[in-house]
Amino acid sequence: MNCEQSIPNLAGLCTVREAAAAGLSVDDNVTMLKRIHYVKKRLYDTMVRHMCRTPEWEVKGAMSLHLWLDAEHAAALRRRVSEMREPPLHMDKVPDPQLETALDELLHADTTLELLAGIRFFRQALLEAYAEHRRLSNPLIDHPTYRVMRFVALEEQDMLDWLDPAVEALQASDSEREPTAAWVAHLAACLGQAGGLLGTEPAPPAPAQRTLRSADPFELQLVPRRDSRFSDLYNSVLSADEIYRDRARDPKERVWALFYKRLRELDVPEMQCSIVAQTPNKPWEYYLDMGRQIWDEARHSMMGEVAFLQNGVDFTKLPIRINFSLELNTLLTPEERHAILYEIEFGLMPGDTGKKYEWETSRQTGYDLAMTMHDYDWADEVLHAQIGRKWIVPQFGDVQRTIDAAKEAWGKLAERRPAYVNESPDWWDLFYGKVRDKEFVSSSEATGAK
Ligand SMILES: [Fe+2]
Ligand SMILES: [Fe+2]
Repeated sequence: MNCEQSIPNLAGLCTVREAAAAGLSVDDNVTMLKRIHYVKKRLYDTMVRHMCRTPEWEVKGAMSLHLWLDAEHAAALRRRVSEMREPPLHMDKVPDPQLETALDELLHADTTLELLAGIRFFRQALLEAYAEHRRLSNPLIDHPTYRVMRFVALEEQDMLDWLDPAVEALQASDSEREPTAAWVAHLAACLGQAGGLLGTEPAPPAPAQRTLRSADPFELQLVPRRDSRFSDLYNSVLSADEIYRDRARDPKERVWALFYKRLRELDVPEMQCSIVAQTPNKPWEYYLDMGRQIWDEARHSMMGEVAFLQNGVDFTKLPIRINFSLELNTLLTPEERHAILYEIEFGLMPGDTGKKYEWETSRQTGYDLAMTMHDYDWADEVLHAQIGRKWIVPQFGDVQRTIDAAKEAWGKLAERRPAYVNESPDWWDLFYGKVRDKEFVSSSEATGAK
């Protein structure tokens, strides 16, 4: 065999000609990566701060995913910078005050449309920056960066593939197109002052006067909002929580109660984002872990959504209360909220009542979709208990002190909680009466659900 001809050299990364183009220096590379990292960090932070005030159900879910991806990308970029003779890394320094201003303006988006159109603008700029970096960087000599940029670009494109139709849907009328275009042009002008995302473009002369929304401080809103499809937002009838635990009931009814519990979990990202937004100056690993958990909880809610849609139920008509995120966000400190989150997840670990019981209840119905959901939900919650143990338990000293703090916080909530009105106190019986005699639609059957 003639090895020289048949086996690709350079591990197949590129041609000799491509590898022979000198490319970026370490210093220039690090400067670019720090700017990209800063934008990723700010996008994460922007979505965290907008989670409660954003009403649209689907946007909350997608933002939960996107903020976690941004956290992952930031972590990969930090690690790569740390490999390039950089200690001290200064990753938490603002690389350019003009870049900071552009992202401060994004944070001040007024509506969901402005927020998503603005985020889309920055994601498009990021994609261009990755392409420019790929053009300048040597694919062999700087291969570890080249690799990071490839998978970051892949997920950036995935996020844009969601953002494009989402912005289109929010921009339903022509009267909304003009102000949105003006808002994006404003962000583009701010980024232009920074010499573009990478800082490599000539900045135009500074405008004599410009109006910046970020001249006023950003007001964090901790009251969760839901869009107009949802009503009976304060329904405190606890029947679903009692029903799934009641072994005397038919497993089928208990599994419907579990689907409902999953669906309601979108309130956890609302609550957890409030903790993150009010907990500055932690190591990046904290924000990464919290981002992962935020996405998992949104994913659990989506599991419930899938179960309802697959079985022909319009979940938006159910009372999905917001009391949990509302009360924790507005009546407790971030530490107390986190202690409660830990206490809940710690309490899900015993096999006879916790996540194992939920999975076994699913198994009793023979419904394959319910089993898969609760198999993974169980695995996720074990991870969440570990995340809580890592980040909140040390703040209180040990597990017992954290649980005690949570119990105290629950007591405060009981004292401070306002009286709620249940618009439909008998909703569970009405709902279950409609689905009791229906067979679960197997996951192997074709679904017409969106
Ligand atoms: Fe969950
Ligand atoms: Fe969890």
